[in-house]
Amino acid sequence: MAAETKKSGFSSKLGLIMATAGSAVGLGNIWKFPYIAGENGGGAFLIIYLACVILFGLPLMMTELFIGKQSGKSAFGAFRELRNNSRWQWLSWLCMITSFLIMGFYFVVTGWCFHYLVAAVGHVFKDLTTAQLTLHFDDFIANRPEVLGYSILAVIFTAAVLWFDVNKGIERLSKILMPLLLIMMFLMAGRVLMLDGSNTGMEFFFHADFSKLDTRTILSALGQCFFSLSIGMGALITYGAYMPKTQNIAATSLQVAVLDTLVAVLAGLIIFPAVFAFGFNPAEGPELVFVVLPAIFEKMSFAWFSSILFFSLLCVAAVTSTISLMEVAVAFISEATAKNKHPLDRRKSVLVVMAVVVVSMAACIYFPVVFKGFDTVSSCVLMPLNAFAMALFVGWFLPKADIRQGIVHSPIVAKELGKTEKWRHNLANVYIQIVRYIVPLAIIAIFLNGLGIW
Ligand code: TRP
Repeated sequence: MAAETKKSGFSSKLGLIMATAGSAVGLGNIWKFPYIAGENGGGAFLIIYLACVILFGLPLMMTELFIGKQSGKSAFGAFRELRNNSRWQWLSWLCMITSFLIMGFYFVVTGWCFHYLVAAVGHVFKDLTTAQLTLHFDDFIANRPEVLGYSILAVIFTAAVLWFDVNKGIERLSKILMPLLLIMMFLMAGRVLMLDGSNTGMEFFFHADFSKLDTRTILSALGQCFFSLSIGMGALITYGAYMPKTQNIAATSLQVAVLDTLVAVLAGLIIFPAVFAFGFNPAEGPELVFVVLPAIFEKMSFAWFSSILFFSLLCVAAVTSTISLMEVAVAFISEATAKNKHPLDRRKSVLVVMAVVVVSMAACIYFPVVFKGFDTVSSCVLMPLNAFAMALFVGWFLPKADIRQGIVHSPIVAKELGKTEKWRHNLANVYIQIVRYIVPLAIIAIFLNGLGIW
């Protein structure tokens, strides 16, 4: 239903790519990637992460977009539509639960970004030492009502976009802001690399010391890859449903994955050299970027202007991601209740979702174990599990001819194909083998390994 009312959602192929990229590029790249890489030893993590993007990220993005494009439905109705029965409905439920868990902590961190934007406007970081910057963060976090206030602000912004259905506006906005974010990050990386002592950071980020790897690192890298590419929660199913039928899923996924990875690596290139140059600890944890970034701006020309610009871009990047998170839950509720006596329309669903999110945010803010728990359970358990199920669903339960047609427009009949068609046909076959065997088996192996069983 959402798919029908929102068929007009994206005006062009580029619009869809930008929206998908907007969902992917967010706090996962700029906040989470550096701190997880820092906690897992830097270089070795980077290599495993890149391997995960190629082996799992790309095929699974294609899988979700395909499910959406083929069914024209959101995560609620897609599995049902494609199989003509409701045996896979549990997977829709898992997607919705995952979306609530992620929203619980993601909105809190988006709230942190809003606070830092306000602080940047007030230029409160001027002349603060490393220790004082850490103290600023700790003081802010300790003021829980204030954190809750900023997080609620983030929820309201996101809900407003879904409420007024202004996807077109977002699309136009991200076409401008995304390139601006990239330019800004290149400039920051350039400045940081000129700092004394930045070499140690480069060494940390690019030198792979596999001796420090433990079994959890691989699971962390896998979870981070899913999180960063917005995989394993059905968000991309919804976006796939808006896809023009002529759009090539493989090409779209490749473009988004490359852009997303570029932003994550750039974030690492900014954070790690600065961490070592200023004497921070790379394994600082979730506050890492928030204490390091303000220190960087003070070294840049136009410090005040640069910090405001960057934190504004970060807030926008975060909100284009929260939109895709919230959309899954909103579409689920409005579609699930559509046949009820008292159906919840889109707007009522937005209100219900807001209420639940505010409660889970408060839990994350007042109980740090809840924050950590939501994060770990969603990234390391639910998203891999959902992705595993989706790979099996497409690989084993959908007709191969539809898959070839859907992902690369390869003609159904393989005989007498032209050269480029042959190439596309083979690519689709490789994809099918990957989602049938490699992805499911590898996810099982990583799970058992992470649990210490194997
Ligand atoms: N990918 C986003 C980021 O990196 C977060 C996100 C948005 C997400 N939508 C998602 C993660 C759906 C998992 C599933 O910040």
